[in-house]
Amino acid sequence: MELDLRFNKNASETLQEQAFEQIRSHILSGRLRPGMSLPPTRQLAEQLNISRNTISLAYDRLAAEGYIESRGRAGTFVSRALPDESLSADVRSGSTNGPKLDLPSPLLCFSGHPPSVTRPDVANPIIDFWIGRSDPDSFPVDTWRRLLLRKISAAGPNLTEYGDPAGLSDLRIALASHLGRTRGMLVSPEQIIVTSGSQDGLNLICRLLNTQHHPFFIENPCYQGAAFLFRSMGASLHPIPVDQNGFVVEMLPRDTGGVVFVTPSHQYPTGTTLSLERRLQLLKWANDTNSIIIEDDYDCHFRYDGRPVTALAGLDNGQRVFYLGTFSKSLGAGLRVGFAVVPQGLADPARIVKSQMNHGQAWLEQAVLAEFIESGLYDRHLRRARKLYKSRRDCLLASLGRYFGSTEITGAEAGLHVVWRLPPGSPDARVVQQRARLRGVGVYGLDSGAAYDFDGTSNRDSLVLGYSSIQEKSIETAICRLHELLHDMRREFTPYAVFPRQQSA
Ligand SMILES: Cc1ncc(COP(=O)(O)O)c(C=O)c1O
Repeated sequence: MELDLRFNKNASETLQEQAFEQIRSHILSGRLRPGMSLPPTRQLAEQLNISRNTISLAYDRLAAEGYIESRGRAGTFVSRALPDESLSADVRSGSTNGPKLDLPSPLLCFSGHPPSVTRPDVANPIIDFWIGRSDPDSFPVDTWRRLLLRKISAAGPNLTEYGDPAGLSDLRIALASHLGRTRGMLVSPEQIIVTSGSQDGLNLICRLLNTQHHPFFIENPCYQGAAFLFRSMGASLHPIPVDQNGFVVEMLPRDTGGVVFVTPSHQYPTGTTLSLERRLQLLKWANDTNSIIIEDDYDCHFRYDGRPVTALAGLDNGQRVFYLGTFSKSLGAGLRVGFAVVPQGLADPARIVKSQMNHGQAWLEQAVLAEFIESGLYDRHLRRARKLYKSRRDCLLASLGRYFGSTEITGAEAGLHVVWRLPPGSPDARVVQQRARLRGVGVYGLDSGAAYDFDGTSNRDSLVLGYSSIQEKSIETAICRLHELLHDMRREFTPYAVFPRQQSA
């Protein structure tokens, strides 16, 4: 069959991108139907008088995103199950702000994407660099069981009555003291609202804010969980670039205030740390423009190199910072426990909002956590986890260095993931993601790894590697397989280029 593709050599998109977009649009519009065969790359390249590589790369990307599938010698076909119905709706409507769902009444409205924080289903066991997960074998199961039993045996009416919607008092006292010791924050327990993870805290804060009437300044690239939520609440988002010192505060408008969302300890996804100078600049800007800052301190417990950094909320005298904490990284995301710290004057409104949302969190888990922190067991757990993750991080950096020579990595000094820029000449990160899976390695481009990039550029050349839940031997094996894969792919795409040889260990 012939495919009608037209190229504009003066367009800003590459020929490969143009081929990808046009074939995808043929599929989404139904001109190419599921199961139909596509012409072989050589034939199509000859027909269009362009390089075969261009068509191969476009096919690879279409396959990586699930639009087409290769069936070996039988050829390449349009996928029988298109991957993302919502995307097709989005593309047809020309919208880039998330799918418009066909809701049954004009009184209802919702538009939004779910952040991709859930580990993808994996049929075969793979070595999976899925982002920022605590190590399942390190969860303190025995201690947790002991504390659960003790608490439930003496629960009294706590299981049958509603509690304080802001959270269990013992837990909020323990958290206030922990934040003072570890994050330099002087807060009273009344300012703390216990939530179901930091996403719940972010929802709570949004309900306190006038989301539709003030600009939201957000890191670019940023965390999907924040961008998608703000957008679904009608906020207008203004991306602010991130460099090696974090959020570029100078790019904020001088005279217009608004809401700023930042991840200063370990910027998500790039992993950079907001310098002290910029922290102070940001607080000054917020005071001068009467603005609000939301600080997401999601993986602050893990800093391996350099000095500990005080939270923005610890430097804030003006009570401009809303702080979000979570146990998703330090203990486990499945616990669904986190907390928001709100400025003093907003403690009562925040308690009311939490009560309206869900009357507060479950008592049992809060009671266990309170004692876990109070008794010093949490600090001990963090010390052990930090040591374990540091040695996994060291192993990852050493393996990348050994196989790829000098590498461009950001975010290694803290947290549970790094961003690795693929070596020059590598195929698109999404193609690498798909091919690596076939070799038993799970790696993720930025958008698959819960990051949102307003320009869509870093999505293409970088992978997010979460290392905290992989044993060292497996890290080495996986990086060796990635080296082989990129070597093979590069030969496939540019026959004469090879990566540097593996250096001896
Ligand atoms: C930047 C960022 N913030 C927060 C979270 C955690 O969210 P939660 O506490 O709701 O589990 C994540 C999880 O991946 C994250 O990457």
